[in-house]
Amino acid sequence: MKEISPNAAASAKLLNWVDNRFPASKLYKEHLSEYYAPKNFNFWYFFGSLAMLVLVIQIVTGIFLVMHYKPEATLAFASVEYIMRDVPWGWLIRYMHSTGASAFFVVVYLHMFRGLLYGSYRKPRELVWIFGCAIFLCLMAEAFMGYLLPWGQMSYWGAQVIVNLFAAIPFIGPDLALLIRGDYVVGDATLNRFFSFHVIAVPLVLLGLVAAHIIALHEVGSNNPDGIEIKATKGADGHPLDGIPFHPYYTVHDILGVAVFLMAFSAVIFFAPEFGGYFLEYNNFIPADSLKTPAHIAPVWYFTPFYSMLRAITDEMKYVLMACVLGAAVFTAVKTRLPGLVKGVALVVALGVCAFMYSTDAKFWGVVIMGAAVIILFFLPWLDNCGVKSIRYRPSWHKYIYAIFVVDFFVLGYLGVQPPSPAGERISQIGTLFYFGFFLLMPWWSAKGETKPVPSRVVFAAH
Ligand code: HEM
Repeated sequence: MKEISPNAAASAKLLNWVDNRFPASKLYKEHLSEYYAPKNFNFWYFFGSLAMLVLVIQIVTGIFLVMHYKPEATLAFASVEYIMRDVPWGWLIRYMHSTGASAFFVVVYLHMFRGLLYGSYRKPRELVWIFGCAIFLCLMAEAFMGYLLPWGQMSYWGAQVIVNLFAAIPFIGPDLALLIRGDYVVGDATLNRFFSFHVIAVPLVLLGLVAAHIIALHEVGSNNPDGIEIKATKGADGHPLDGIPFHPYYTVHDILGVAVFLMAFSAVIFFAPEFGGYFLEYNNFIPADSLKTPAHIAPVWYFTPFYSMLRAITDEMKYVLMACVLGAAVFTAVKTRLPGLVKGVALVVALGVCAFMYSTDAKFWGVVIMGAAVIILFFLPWLDNCGVKSIRYRPSWHKYIYAIFVVDFFVLGYLGVQPPSPAGERISQIGTLFYFGFFLLMPWWSAKGETKPVPSRVVFAAH
């Protein structure tokens, strides 16, 4: 028990009473007023706090939507129209939530890209990154299930297509798809379980993961655009010389990011809530009809890079993938100094995988590739072999590889919205190979080239 003078102010006495029972001041110091963050953060560092803001917006608007939404197949569509037309301010709440979903992905993609640019996933921040990847997976599940709820044509047929993909998994597929749907087709049972997962199960996991993400970050400290560990250079007071307390410096700094974000967010909500059919697809303003399949079914933009990869896996592409697997095993056998037994096992496993690939449907491998495109992100900390963290000090040509990676992701995203075409299919196949090549060959290419000298202190020019 910490004693306090009887003459202290009532507020100080109250805080002391709380502190003796709950570490309020300790938490405030550890995570805000005495959390030393590098002084050279740039605009890329806005997106973490913005992701938190969007999370709060989604939860608060979600709570109000649930007050009027009906999770029942015959009522869901009309209840959303009721929210839009009759509930006071319902249109605003709904547009905030639907725009928030897209904003979440914009912010999170930029946040992840920042991590890639500055090597923020590398030691000692591997767990920060892994929690981040788990958040990304949850976010995808959350968005997918939320999209079924308005029960429009796209909600219905999008869910139908994606759930049917699970049926392509050998042995367990059909039963798994049945379990997810709760019926032989997407129906009321599916709507109910997606509703339950969307409003409570996934958000709970998401909140837990975000807490773990921040706790892990604050344990090791933030990275920065120079990729230098500021804890390595401490002053006489024991604080990093290049660090400044998060509060008030970065709480105030982040207000700028929040202001700019809210301007863009409001502009979309008030002037272009459908955003040309990218944020709310036009077909989703038509009630779900199980007898009328829309001519073109495409997921919302944030899924389309992965959807393109799924569509890229045709029978022909399956053989290319088999060639890649065999090529990797032969390379391991011929070019590496691993023990003979390991090489033998690699060859046998590769042959087994190829035989399995040969005997299974290309659609299944499309699902595998789509899943692998996300799962591979988890391994990034162990794929990067460059001697330095930040792009600033990597060999200059690394920038071009990153640039091509970004273009590739955009092209895949664009093709995923388009109806299938022979040219689009070929381009998405090349794009898919590049995407995986970027990660799988990273241990090799990231170690190549000459790195630039890393300064011992962060580079900072006062504004
Ligand atoms: C709901 C989603 C998320 C929230 C609320 C969130 C929140 C935050 C916050 C507040 C920070 C500290 C400020 C900053 O560095 O910008 C941070 C850092 C970080 N986040 Fe996230 N994050 C989310 C998703 C992700 C995802 C999907 C990834 C990667 C897959 C990720 C990877 C990282 C990394 C590596 C850092 C450390 C960056 C550094 O120190 O340079 N985060 N996050």
